[in-house]
Amino acid sequence: MASILLITGTPGVGKTVLAQNLSRKSGFTLVELGNLVRKEGLYTRFDKARKTYIVDEGKLRKRLEMLSRSSERVVLPTHLIGRFLPKDSVKTALVLRLDPVVLYKRLRARGWTKRKAWENTEAEILDVCLQESRLLLGTRKVFEIDTTRKSAASVYKEALRVLSRRRTSRSRIVNWLARYDPVELERNL
Ligand SMILES: Nc1ncnc2c1ncn2[C@@H]1O[C@H](COP(=O)(O)OP(=O)(O)OP(=O)(O)O)[C@@H](O)[C@H]1O
Ligand SMILES: [Mg+2]
Repeated sequence: MASILLITGTPGVGKTVLAQNLSRKSGFTLVELGNLVRKEGLYTRFDKARKTYIVDEGKLRKRLEMLSRSSERVVLPTHLIGRFLPKDSVKTALVLRLDPVVLYKRLRARGWTKRKAWENTEAEILDVCLQESRLLLGTRKVFEIDTTRKSAASVYKEALRVLSRRRTSRSRIVNWLARYDPVELERNL
């Protein structure tokens, strides 16, 4: 049966690396949303100011539905959760988590401004991707993986564990707010 494995999480947590491993080692077809949208014209227009294409959600959803029918298993890494996702075809969503301090440093090392790095770090602290995934897909399909201090290989292994349902979706994996006060953290970073 057709299925999409969604890999989501705040920018910089390691979605692409995991999706590449799943594609190479487990035979998933890797779908890169940006490429798909650009190459196949699945946008309404180009936003010059933000230098991005504005996605045509209806067209993209239809295309993803088609893909999930034609290919046995699709892996889709994206930090965006939205109506463009054909939610019935998404069988599992993995939300990668990363300690906010590690994430902030990783984003700054990418050359992102303090402001942009902090905005995304704050989204990680507040569980934004997790909540959005649960809202769209329901709690049963959504699993968190804490990637902090884990190698790409062990994140991959943990993903396989979840896929074989050797772990339940309900267990709470991280609670950054219990560890960090966002106001304090922003001041000290
Ligand atoms: N488990 C890991 N341990 C250490 N570094 C990692 C790990 N996984 C990925 N990285 C590194 O972190 C950076 C971000 O990884 P990646 O591009 O996969 O993130 P992403 O979630 O796809 O980001 P974006 O949302 O911007 O596409 C890369 O430099 C990658 O090599
Ligand atoms: Mg990526």
